[in-house]
Amino acid sequence: MPLARSLSITSLSGLEEWDEEFDLEDAVLFEIAWEVANKVGGIYTVIQTKARLTAEEWGENYFLVGPYVESNVRTQVELIEPTNPALKRAIDKMNSSGCKVYFGRWLIEGSPYVVLIDVAFTAWNLDKWKKELWDNFSIGVPWFDREANDAVLFGFLTAWLLGEYAAQCEEPPHILAHFHEWLAGLGLALCRQRQLPVATIFTTHATLLGRYLCAGSVDFYNNLADFNVDKEAGDRQIYHRYCLERTAARCAHVFTTVSQITAVEAEHLLKRKPDIITPNGLNVKKFSAMHEFQNLHAQSKNRIQEFIRGHFYGHLDFNLDKCLFLFIAGRYEFSNKGADIFLEALARLNYLLRVNHSDVTVVAFFIMPARTNNFNVETLKGQAVRKQKRMYLYGQLPDVSKMLDKDDFTMMKRAIFATQRQCQPPICTHNMLEDSNDPILTCIRRIGLFNSSADRVKVIFHPEFLSSTSPLLPMDYEEFVRGCHLGVFPSYYEPWGYTPAECTVMGIPSISTNLSGFGCFMEEHIADPSAYGIYILDRRYRGVDESCNQLTSYLFQFCQQSRRARIIQRNRTERLSDLLDWRYLGRYYISARHMALAKAFPDTYFYQPHDSETAQGFRYPRPASVPPSPSLSRHSSPRQSEAEEDDDRYDEDAEAEKDRLNIRQPLTLPSKKGPALPYTLPGANGEK
Ligand code: UDP
Ligand code: G6P
Ligand code: GLC
Repeated sequence: MPLARSLSITSLSGLEEWDEEFDLEDAVLFEIAWEVANKVGGIYTVIQTKARLTAEEWGENYFLVGPYVESNVRTQVELIEPTNPALKRAIDKMNSSGCKVYFGRWLIEGSPYVVLIDVAFTAWNLDKWKKELWDNFSIGVPWFDREANDAVLFGFLTAWLLGEYAAQCEEPPHILAHFHEWLAGLGLALCRQRQLPVATIFTTHATLLGRYLCAGSVDFYNNLADFNVDKEAGDRQIYHRYCLERTAARCAHVFTTVSQITAVEAEHLLKRKPDIITPNGLNVKKFSAMHEFQNLHAQSKNRIQEFIRGHFYGHLDFNLDKCLFLFIAGRYEFSNKGADIFLEALARLNYLLRVNHSDVTVVAFFIMPARTNNFNVETLKGQAVRKQKRMYLYGQLPDVSKMLDKDDFTMMKRAIFATQRQCQPPICTHNMLEDSNDPILTCIRRIGLFNSSADRVKVIFHPEFLSSTSPLLPMDYEEFVRGCHLGVFPSYYEPWGYTPAECTVMGIPSISTNLSGFGCFMEEHIADPSAYGIYILDRRYRGVDESCNQLTSYLFQFCQQSRRARIIQRNRTERLSDLLDWRYLGRYYISARHMALAKAFPDTYFYQPHDSETAQGFRYPRPASVPPSPSLSRHSSPRQSEAEEDDDRYDEDAEAEKDRLNIRQPLTLPSKKGPALPYTLPGANGEK
């Protein structure tokens, strides 16, 4: 009995409704990625946050497929019997043929079904499958590349699963398989080569070659069209990986990527123009009261302040109430993520704050995982001292008259002496395994930001992702972001960049760049992004030094804002959340799926391409509360007079309403029938 499923996306303040009549019939969706229930970076965030919307649309016919990793399964997955009879038969058959395939519910919003495959368990097949890969695709994978070996196993196992599922269906099935990133790409190529009844989508979240080239000293964006891709991949010893990626992109019925900038890159480096861009969304939580996220900021900030008290014990000679918390976070790609120019800009900011006798202190956190062997003693001691001697940390005696006796008084004096320390507060919270050639530490040594008393900019390097169970900074990443004042992500290579997007939906301003998918997306859809706390650095048309100056000036301006101005700015930032919600951005994934079904099963499905000529897009106008005169709004940030400095009492809701009314009127999205068209790229040259 065919299920009639179609989609209607409800109105999000100002963004238009979207209805698409498309009967999915009996189609079944498999979404396959190495980061299903397995956190590595942003792809995990894509899949985890999108699951609820996709599960709503596909119901019982939606299955995520990923690798089985025991520690992840223990904490995130409830293993159950397969719910779909054909899938149960397929899994049983594989398990009786020497595989280990598990079925369960991933315990996240939407509770999607997951099929998890233990790739190591089938490693005995590796040589056989590599030979098959060579015979059919002429791709040779060297024995020492562990990640590529996993990609081969995962690819053959997922293709086996889909083939087995198709064989177990009583009626000819309509299978849609959406593969993410090169690590999952081989499964797609095998589906096509084996001519399985599967409509395929390949989404690339970056190109391998792009990431490698950018990390070197290449002028990437000005030479995109001229790279000899085979040679470049060979020189970097990633030719086999590159071939796997390019094969998946070429074989897919529908090829997508996460941003316009990566679409251009893919066209040159993978030699196929994406059919549609599928920008990354988030699961936006709405609070009933406007001030609720502001309260969360204040609460989380208090917890960061507690940490700072411990970290700087004996040297807490700055006013915590005038302290701004900045941070950069993500996988440790020093120059691709812009940690290099952030450090340089911090050194310049330090100078500016000092010569201007600013009373602001900046603490910049670097949250980037590196190889360590645990927390360092000095840092742990700081937190221990804070916990034990909380009362004395300010280095001043409390009111003596309240003390009980002389012994207590003596004990307190000793405790205060114990909080003095000879060394500077540490830069790094952990013992680094490669301390002497670590890029962040090396750069800090060169620019001399050593957390000395005279420095107005302090640096803390936390080389591990955050966790609420840490003995040092027991906060999860979301709590930490909420407590900070500004996220700084000056990336040189960033196909999307979830970190600034996450800041936005939490109402925390951020700096991104016009080389990141997110930055370009916001530039396209917001008339004056910086008025909303979305600072977009120009790394496209300026040299490194100039970009660094621009970053320094953004940071310096930010440090000059009053508390009230920061509160207003956070309100504006948070108001952009709808734009990043999957309930709105999910439509591009939906279009990609319909497109693939129609290409693979033209007798059953019909997809109406949308006319790109009528595309209008939409733009958030400047906030109503920003003065229109250019001289008054030069910085586009809500600067206030000195008299208003620390006044955080103002009518936030009225302010919000003013902006909201202003936003509603001019917003126009393209026709209700289809996706906002700038994301549909006409003339894709992939295989039909
Ligand atoms: N992240 C995290 N814990 C941390 C720091 C970062 O979970 O302590 C997450 C963050 O929430 C984001 C992801 O790591 O979703 C990084 O994704 P992004 O797209 O910015 O970069 P990628 O690593 O994929 O290049
Ligand atoms: C939130 C809270 C205010 C607090 C402010 C601090 O808005 O609701 O009570 O004063 O945060 O802002 P700041 O930018 O100084 O951390
Ligand atoms: C990649 C990119 C990142 C993007 C993420 C999710 O890892 O580096 O920019 O946000 O995938 O698409």
